Amino acid sequence: MVPNREECLRLMREYGMLENIVAHSLEVANVALFFSIELNKKGQKIDIGLVEAASLLHDLTKTECLKTREDHAQTGSQLLKGMGYERIGDVVAQHIWLGKEGDPSSVSEEEIVNYADKRVMHDRIVSLEERFSDLKERYGGNLRAMDYLERLQKEIYGIENKISFILQIDPNDLQHFQLDRNR
Ligand SMILES: [Fe+2]
Repeated sequence: MVPNREECLRLMREYGMLENIVAHSLEVANVALFFSIELNKKGQKIDIGLVEAASLLHDLTKTECLKTREDHAQTGSQLLKGMGYERIGDVVAQHIWLGKEGDPSSVSEEEIVNYADKRVMHDRIVSLEERFSDLKERYGGNLRAMDYLERLQKEIYGIENKISFILQIDPNDLQHFQLDRNR
């Protein structure tokens, strides 16, 4: 079961997401949909509705977690699973850290949303390089945090390489691609 775009937007309002997090989520959805549609043209079997809903809802509890310091990937996942959105909950749980090796020849919804989230800084599309240098500046204050970011970066470059190999594109050209922002 997956809610449509209008239902997702309603949930985002209902949970009081900060405007900047809403703007971020909308752009993550644009990027994730772009890659999903292109990958499906190459024979991948990505569930487009699931990717759209999970992208829109990936930071559903982040606003609240800024206060409670909880892990918003986990609380968001639990909340959505509690609503009966099992698969969205799975994708949201893995939007920061995938933590497991994916299939080398196919791209999962989890990987797409995780990757798209890392290509959007605030509400702007950036390269992984730019996104990680910003993350390291903001959060890489100690060795443990820096080590975590390094591992995260290694994981996501693996996904990027897989996507660009399948699509035969330079993923950084995304800035020049026409994203459909009129849904
Ligand atoms: Fe997030």
